Formats: sequence, C-alpha cells, structure tokens
Amino acid sequence: MPLVRTEGLTKAFGALTAVNAVTLEVQEGALHSVIGPNGAGKTTFFNLLTGQLAPTAGRIVFDGRDIAGTPPHKIAHLGIARSFQRTSIFPTLSIADNVWLAAFARHDSWRGLAWRRADRYPELLERALAALGEVGLADKAGQPAREISHGEQRQLELAIALAAAPRLLLLDEPAAGLSPDETQKMVGLVRKLKGRYTIVLIEHKIGVVMSMSDRISVMHFGSVIAEGTPAEIQRDAEVRRAYLGGIAPP
Ligand SMILES: Nc1ncnc2c1ncn2[C@@H]1O[C@H](COP(=O)(O)OP(=O)(O)O)[C@@H](O)[C@H]1O
Ligand SMILES: [Mg+2]
Repeated sequence: MPLVRTEGLTKAFGALTAVNAVTLEVQEGALHSVIGPNGAGKTTFFNLLTGQLAPTAGRIVFDGRDIAGTPPHKIAHLGIARSFQRTSIFPTLSIADNVWLAAFARHDSWRGLAWRRADRYPELLERALAALGEVGLADKAGQPAREISHGEQRQLELAIALAAAPRLLLLDEPAAGLSPDETQKMVGLVRKLKGRYTIVLIEHKIGVVMSMSDRISVMHFGSVIAEGTPAEIQRDAEVRRAYLGGIAPP
C-alpha cells in the first residue's frame, strides 16, 4: 500500500499550471526521487504535499485520508516533514536546543515553554540527540548554532526534520549549494536514511538519483512524463529527450 498517493494533483498560478494533474504513488519505506528541469514543478509539488499551497484540483491521500487543503501545521502533525526550506534556526541557541525546540513544537503546544525546561521532557531531548547522532552532529550538540559551517547547517536542518519522527520525509535538493566534500557527506547521510524512512527526494545530480532511488518520477512542464525504476528511466526515450540529454547508462 502506498503511504502517499496524489490523484490528478494540480496547482495553477494564474495562466501557469505549475503542477498539472500529477498522479503519483510513494510506497512505504521507499526512496522515491522526483527529477526534472528547473521550473518543472517539483518544489511546488512539495509545497502541495506539506500544505504550504492549496491545490487547484486533485487529491492527496496520505495514510488513507485525503489531506489536500489541510494547513501546514496539521500536516506536520500527521507526520510529513520537509527539510531544506530554509528552516528557521535560532543562531544563539545550541544545536541541541534548536532540534529539541523543533521536536517540542510538534509534540506539544507552545504554552508552558517559558517555564518548562528540556529536562522535563527527557524523551524529546533524547530524540533530539538521537537525530543529531543520525546526521553526524552529536559531538557539536552543545555549540551555538551560529558557529557551524554551511554544510553542517544543512545537517542540522535534516536533524530537525528527523526529530519530528516523520512518516514521510521530503528532501528538496539536499546537496544544493554544498561543496564537493559537503555534498558527499550529505549523499552518504541520505543513503543511510534510506529504508528507515519513506523519502521523496528532489535532486539534480543524476548519478546520485540513479544509484539510490527505488523509483523515479520525471516531471516536465508540471506533468509526470515518466515513472519507473532507475533502469527504466534511463532507457526511456522521452525522458532522454526532455531531460537526461543522452546520459550514458552507469
Ligand atoms: N508562488 C508562486 N507564484 C507564481 N509562480 C510560481 C510560484 N511558485 C512557483 N512558481 C512557478 O511555477 C513553476 C514551477 O516552479 P517550481 O515548482 O519551483 O519548479 P522546480 O522546483 O521544478 O524548479 C515555475 O515556472 C515557477 O516560476
Ligand atoms: Mg525546486
């Protein structure tokens, strides 16, 4: 059974149909990539899944219920988390406190935050530290967030998403803007998360996508023009014309 399924999902901005009747299924536990040229509608698709945008038409069935039009905070509570959307990070707080706060915000109401302390929520603190461990930042947990590098900031954003114990993790170009070294680290992290989370990955580095995806959907001008395993996508003539530009098989 798919964890999430969109049916005819559409978003129009005036005359521009950014996402056009997208029907797409993501199986539980899969790493499903969405590729396509700039402007294809990939990020808009994520914005629909997280409730940042309301669809013009279509359905989003998550875990058996239609969540189209549900506001972002409710969707977050249902277990859809997104990383790499410029998460607000509090620069003077420690890395651990940033993650803990994000976990708290999802777990409970904000009421009482002023007088309750992290040690009153041992399970949240534990989850925050576990998430930092998962992204390789455990040894920096006590440092102020402002002291970390750009690559580490992206790792922190990923930890914040993981601390929410998401059922569906949406990653929008996790390696964008990173140095080659940082990119390698981030790709390694995503690889480690594969199988433990259901992941939808938007990524431009085609080698990365081909090597770690279970399935790939290709978007072009708002529509899904192909869907299949990496091998199937590599062979697809229309995909090659539209996007891959004759990339050689691995
Ligand atoms: N909020 C918006 N208002 C108007 N047009 C938008 C908005 N968001 C995205 N678009 C347009 O929708 C199209 C798809 O954008 P986007 O989803 O960001 O593509 P991708 O992530 O695949 O590069 C682009 O033409 C973009 O300019
Ligand atoms: Mg985008």
